[in-house]
Amino acid sequence: MNRDTADISLKTQMPGTKAEALVARDKKIQAKATDCYAFVRALDDWAEGPFCTDVDGNVLMDFTGQIGCNPLGYNHPEITLALEKMAHISPIKFAGTDFYTEWQNGLPSPTDFKEKIIEATAMFGYEKVFLSNSGAEAVENALKCCYAKRGKGGIGINFKGAFHGRTLGALSMNYSKRNHKKGYPMIPNVVTIPYCGEEEKSYCNCGFWVTDKKTGEEMSVLEQMLRKGVGVHDPEEIAYILFEPVQGEGGYIVPNEHFVAELKRIQQTYGIPIIADEVQSGLGRTGKLWAIEHTGIVPDLITSAKALQVGATIGKAGIFPTEAARISSTWGGGDIINSIIGYKTLDMIMRYKLWENAEKMGNYFLGQLSKMASTYNCLESARGRGLMDAIEFGKQADRDKFESECFKRGLMVIGCGYKALRFLPPLDVTRRELDIALNVIDDALRAI
Ligand SMILES: Cc1ncc(COP(=O)(O)O)c(C=O)c1O
Repeated sequence: MNRDTADISLKTQMPGTKAEALVARDKKIQAKATDCYAFVRALDDWAEGPFCTDVDGNVLMDFTGQIGCNPLGYNHPEITLALEKMAHISPIKFAGTDFYTEWQNGLPSPTDFKEKIIEATAMFGYEKVFLSNSGAEAVENALKCCYAKRGKGGIGINFKGAFHGRTLGALSMNYSKRNHKKGYPMIPNVVTIPYCGEEEKSYCNCGFWVTDKKTGEEMSVLEQMLRKGVGVHDPEEIAYILFEPVQGEGGYIVPNEHFVAELKRIQQTYGIPIIADEVQSGLGRTGKLWAIEHTGIVPDLITSAKALQVGATIGKAGIFPTEAARISSTWGGGDIINSIIGYKTLDMIMRYKLWENAEKMGNYFLGQLSKMASTYNCLESARGRGLMDAIEFGKQADRDKFESECFKRGLMVIGCGYKALRFLPPLDVTRRELDIALNVIDDALRAI
């Protein structure tokens, strides 16, 4: 098999019996979490780019990108070749914020990886990175840096529709679904404001823009909160604004240009740090290396994970605590295998400027999805940026049915928001591969 000629090829009904058996076994012992459909990848069978083989011998196409963790698709040769050098070396986890490791066979060490991450944020002038185990931890550490730096009132600002992870701190910042938060305690002093989406072409009525009763002026809720004589908070009290440059789990919402211009103005006028959560949107997916580049905002901190294989909190030196042990993590800085994969992934994204392919292929893909949105009654809209795209259904039941109709036809996709469906093809996806997926999407929509 080879990626250039491969196609979806199903030998069984989806899911097949081996997949169903494995999932049944797993469900007996796996604590209830999130689950999608019975896809079981045969790890040692053929897979390349967006194609992969399941345990029943079916070749599927994966447009979930493992929710952003697999930006170069399966078995990229530059990654598998690098890992061959690991043979006969125990890949132990290392206490990497306390101790150091270095290869003598040319493989990238955690230090090489951190230097690469700093190189990838050169446009923002960043100097420091703190590695952790997940996106949620990257967010936790960004929040801690801001609380430590700003002291004072410790008020945080987040957005409706946001998702930042599931540890209690990051969870406090979520505002996308009730069952993520229900009954869990939250960080106090978090003010949640509207996230103004792109479909609102100018000043809209989402609640971000208000007419102030005292002055009669139209202003943003942030200005209303912070302006002397008008607002209730001294800007010094605000520790951070936590912002997804494209909302992910909340439904692939692209922000409105006036809205982001206002965030930038608030950051510059009042000196309030902006944390750009790029865990899902970052690393080339939206047509730029970082999605925040679309907005003109220079964030004070970036949080990254998923495609990077580790969590990373990145920023200028001055925003990190200088006192020892304010932040740390046993495994944080020292995952040997993930440093190799993360380094190679980032290196290829930068070397091949894969954001350019994401933009070009994304324009084509989104154009075709938009045509479908105006053809099929069950769809309300298509939206996205680069290869971070979604379709919005009128009803959640239709979205769920669509997801399983795609799976039955060998295309893996996954929902977001309440009734949207997201697509995350590999960043090096080809027009031929998009067309294979588009045929399935069209066919599944017709079935609904
Ligand atoms: C924007 C964003 N931030 C944070 C997270 C949490 O990442 P993780 O699941 O690695 O903890 C996610 C996960 O989907 C995310 O999309």
